[in-house]
Amino acid sequence: MILPLITVPDPILRQKARPVKKVSKRIRTLAQNMLETMYDAEGVGLAAPQVGVAERVIVIDVGQGPLVLINPKLVSKSGQERDVEGCLSIPGRRAYVTRAAKVKVTGLNLEGKKIELEGEGILARALQHEIEHLDGILFIDHLAEEREEKR
Ligand code: NI
Repeated sequence: MILPLITVPDPILRQKARPVKKVSKRIRTLAQNMLETMYDAEGVGLAAPQVGVAERVIVIDVGQGPLVLINPKLVSKSGQERDVEGCLSIPGRRAYVTRAAKVKVTGLNLEGKKIELEGEGILARALQHEIEHLDGILFIDHLAEEREEKR
């Protein structure tokens, strides 16, 4: 089922999302609907707050197949890469953002099993962008920071 996308300035996008306690049928359905919504909108990632659910679930597909992560956590990062980014919750806005080039992330899969994965390039970027959504951070927040640093 395709869900309505929440866009700025909806306050749910600024909330800290709750951890998922149990990977239930409800969470599996949510993840499936998030994937359908992401593909329909031609996005490469989506976080649950973007469909109005303040829980820690993200989905990503950067062309390597669907990835669902529950309670994702960034455990390490390295390098730096600057590339263009957009967000389904901020229609029409794209900008360069500097992020770690490589990340290691842990989380639960749809079976509730702990998984660890490493990503680089666009996958690393999508993981960082989506995990930040769960803490109420949007990519445009980095733009102000980068302007500050240049001063
Ligand atoms: Ni986004």
